[in-house]
Amino acid sequence: MTDRNVSQRQAQQLRAHQQATRMQAERGRVKVLSRTEESGKVQRMLVLTAAAVLAAGSLLYMAQSRAAGAGVQLESPRIDQSNDKSLQRGAAAFVNYCMGCHSAGYQRYSRFAQDAGLSEEDVENNLIFTTDEAGEPTKVGSLMINNMSTEFGKQAFGVAPPNLALTARSRGVDWIYTYLKSYYVDPKKTITGVNNLVFPDTAMPHVLWDLQGLQTPVYGEEAHGSRPITGLELTQEGSMSPDEYDDLISDITNFMAYMSDPIKETRHRVGLWVMLFLFGLLAVAYLLKKEYWKDIVK
Ligand code: HEC
Repeated sequence: MTDRNVSQRQAQQLRAHQQATRMQAERGRVKVLSRTEESGKVQRMLVLTAAAVLAAGSLLYMAQSRAAGAGVQLESPRIDQSNDKSLQRGAAAFVNYCMGCHSAGYQRYSRFAQDAGLSEEDVENNLIFTTDEAGEPTKVGSLMINNMSTEFGKQAFGVAPPNLALTARSRGVDWIYTYLKSYYVDPKKTITGVNNLVFPDTAMPHVLWDLQGLQTPVYGEEAHGSRPITGLELTQEGSMSPDEYDDLISDITNFMAYMSDPIKETRHRVGLWVMLFLFGLLAVAYLLKKEYWKDIVK
């Protein structure tokens, strides 16, 4: 009887022990499982993020290539943001020919004066043609905005002329340069009389037409029921020669590139000094390493 009791207790203990071991093992498995599950989650998140980045990138690329218009070869202007004279000419053209409609609402006159090597008086006397709400000439510390309201812009053009401060980033300099070169006479456009190869059906008139002159399209062979435009021909001369006009719109594009990234030049200058410093540090570190290892490696 007692023996049986003892063996029963032993059997019970054994069972309890086995159960505990099983539970432990299960817990362990659960732990292991949850760990793999977690790393799986991280992996999945990584894959998803990569996919999202790729998708966004390709969308952006598609949007950009669509913005360029089908089959229009964009031309690259030769511009240099460190060329103060070009920036000054570009700014002068911008305030004269573009700011009637467009603003450049992130750019301050005073900052431009500083960056392009002009005095604030120069800017006040030559670049500021707008007035503030009180009717006083705009102050040199103000943003480059005009007095055209969005509603008026919409009424006048159907689309409000956009803020151009960052357009060199969103469209790219090649796009802007080629856009300003690609206006042609199109009698179907009843409001402006012109169309554009890079930005078909643009609401913007050819504001520089008296400088460039007027271009008419050259059509190629008929294909798919329509004749594609293969080039543009200057049929009415403007007050500038084609080279002078290209220089002018290069300067405007340069100014717009500057506005979209005003500290580019500073960044390059500082970057150069940083590289020089790092090379100097490399030389010192190398000499130090030689000194330290001199006695160890013979
Ligand atoms: C008479 C008003 C007017 C003047 C002056 C004017 N623009 Fe425009 N511009 C417009 C309008 C309106 C649009 C919008 C076109 C559209 O979306 O169809 C536009 C659009 C643009 C765009 C395209 C912006 C974008 O990202 O879609 C650029 C670039 C541009 N203008 C540059 C200039 C430059 C440079 C000048 C000066 C040489 C200038 N514009 C002068 C009215 C004007």
